[in-house]
Amino acid sequence: AADMGTDLQQVLISREEIESRLDDMAERIDADYAGEDLLLVGVLKGAVYVMADLSRRLRRSAPMDWMAVSSYGSGTKSSGVVRILKDLDTDLTGRHVLIVEDIIDSGLTLSWLLGNLSSRGAASVEIATLLRKPEAMKVEVDVKYVGFDIPNEFVVGYGLDYAEQYRNLPFIGLLKPEVYEN
Ligand code: PRP
Ligand code: MN
Ligand code: MG
Repeated sequence: AADMGTDLQQVLISREEIESRLDDMAERIDADYAGEDLLLVGVLKGAVYVMADLSRRLRRSAPMDWMAVSSYGSGTKSSGVVRILKDLDTDLTGRHVLIVEDIIDSGLTLSWLLGNLSSRGAASVEIATLLRKPEAMKVEVDVKYVGFDIPNEFVVGYGLDYAEQYRNLPFIGLLKPEVYEN
């Protein structure tokens, strides 16, 4: 079984650093959406920790909804063709939507999601992501709130998985190379 202690190479971003950055992001979101309604949309499964820890830092009440999406075909994300596995329960007409994500890697998922949600008549659609990998991005995605820009390395924890493992690490970490080899 995956052992978070022995499989870990390095802590890249500590729990304290994440929490401090989420404080800043929440403060900006509170200010930017003051007087407006706001719907938080989390992208399952990676975004669950960011959604929980970001939303509870807001001073306002903000409803949340969830989507699950998947790439078509082989599972590589290069196509950018996305399939909806679980759609929103909420009608977006006239709503101010803030998509909450754990990471923007190639940008293909978010790029597609932005288009999809915008086409539903939302008043606005913006993105808040904890992590972004500028070197890995294949499409330009306009992101309003970014926690950390990180190097193009495979990271786990705080919602991010390797083969569904390690999501529940309370920080962002790098795995030892041998973990990928078995
Ligand atoms: C990961 C991550 C983002 C997406 C980013 O999700 O949580 O949602 O990939 O990749 P992209 O920018 O290259 O499109 P994944 O599809 O692994 O599903 P998960 O959230 O359930 O882990
Ligand atoms: Mn995801
Ligand atoms: Mg994943």
